[in-house]
Amino acid sequence: MPPHAGGRQGGQRVKLLVTGGAGYIGSIVTRMLLDAGHEVVVLDDLRTGHRVALAPDAEFVHGQVHDAARVLTPDAGFDGVLHFAALIAAGESMVRPELYWANNTVGSLALLDAVRAAGVPRMVFSSTAAVYGNPVELPIRETAVTAPTNPYGSTKLAVDLALTSESTAHGLAAVSLRYFNVAGAYLRDGVALGERHDPETHLIPIALEVAAGRREKLQIFGDDYPTSDGTCIRDYIHVEDLARAHLLALDAATPGEHRVFNLGNGSGFTNRQVVDVVREVTGHPLPVETAPRREGDPAALVASADLARTELGWTPAKPTLTDMVTDAWDFYRTQILERP
Ligand code: UFG
Repeated sequence: MPPHAGGRQGGQRVKLLVTGGAGYIGSIVTRMLLDAGHEVVVLDDLRTGHRVALAPDAEFVHGQVHDAARVLTPDAGFDGVLHFAALIAAGESMVRPELYWANNTVGSLALLDAVRAAGVPRMVFSSTAAVYGNPVELPIRETAVTAPTNPYGSTKLAVDLALTSESTAHGLAAVSLRYFNVAGAYLRDGVALGERHDPETHLIPIALEVAAGRREKLQIFGDDYPTSDGTCIRDYIHVEDLARAHLLALDAATPGEHRVFNLGNGSGFTNRQVVDVVREVTGHPLPVETAPRREGDPAALVASADLARTELGWTPAKPTLTDMVTDAWDFYRTQILERP
């Protein structure tokens, strides 16, 4: 019998491990898995995750992915792993690549060893648009050439390749979800989960810090890219839509296959257009200055998520940037500004 044999029937309550379940996306997916009736164990070292984001009805194990075998024992009965835990700042990865290889790649390979040893049948992995580097064609399909322009993308691509081997050789049902730029927050039923990076490096939350009076101005990294206004183009996806795709991916995971899906909305916004939306939503003039390019930034990343739509049945409910910035601003005001 292959190591990753077994698995559950559709709709059944199952036991799942979520690595990085105290982080931005992991905490929201954890909430949705619990609401769908599953049992969830969160593994997080709280290096970048936050205790406040932990679901009270999930079991929490404080530890690194490198030690996942402590949790994923053969008789623990896990039916799947959703692997979010990672370092995510492309810019930082240019100057501290060793952190990214150790954490993202070595940690994921240790997790994969534990998954195999425990015979866990399914795994959903947080991959990234950064694996494509500077794309030859937009929108980017899953069949596009992968040529990362920064170590962050390389470390994620290495794990994608390992998952392909694992499913072929050992029967793992693997899915990689390649996220484009994630924004927004989860605000419902009294639960508020959103972005809390420290230090913050992402464009929208930094713009919100300016709108909140916590930063004087926003720097735009580079205005000499080959785009309409010279600033980089990104494709934004609401974190709730992204989170929902994980539950669909779990159901679609097939033994012996590694399936890969891009997740974005298929429309690109320049950094200046993003700033304009933040101005509209917050009513703040948002002073901006142009700064040099940030090393490792691809000029334009726009997804084709046709495969996720047709094969997973995924449809975004909040596709507009205004929806995303509105939710991110609500989260920022109610959870960060008013509760320091
Ligand atoms: N930017 C600025 N000023 C800032 C911060 C960012 O101009 O203060 C620019 C960046 O240079 C880039 C754009 O805004 O052109 C978006 O940058 P982010 O840091 O918000 O996001 P990235 O596109 O670098 O990366 C994000 C995630 C990755 C993911 C990638 C996929 O962090 O995990 O989206 O597109 F891989």
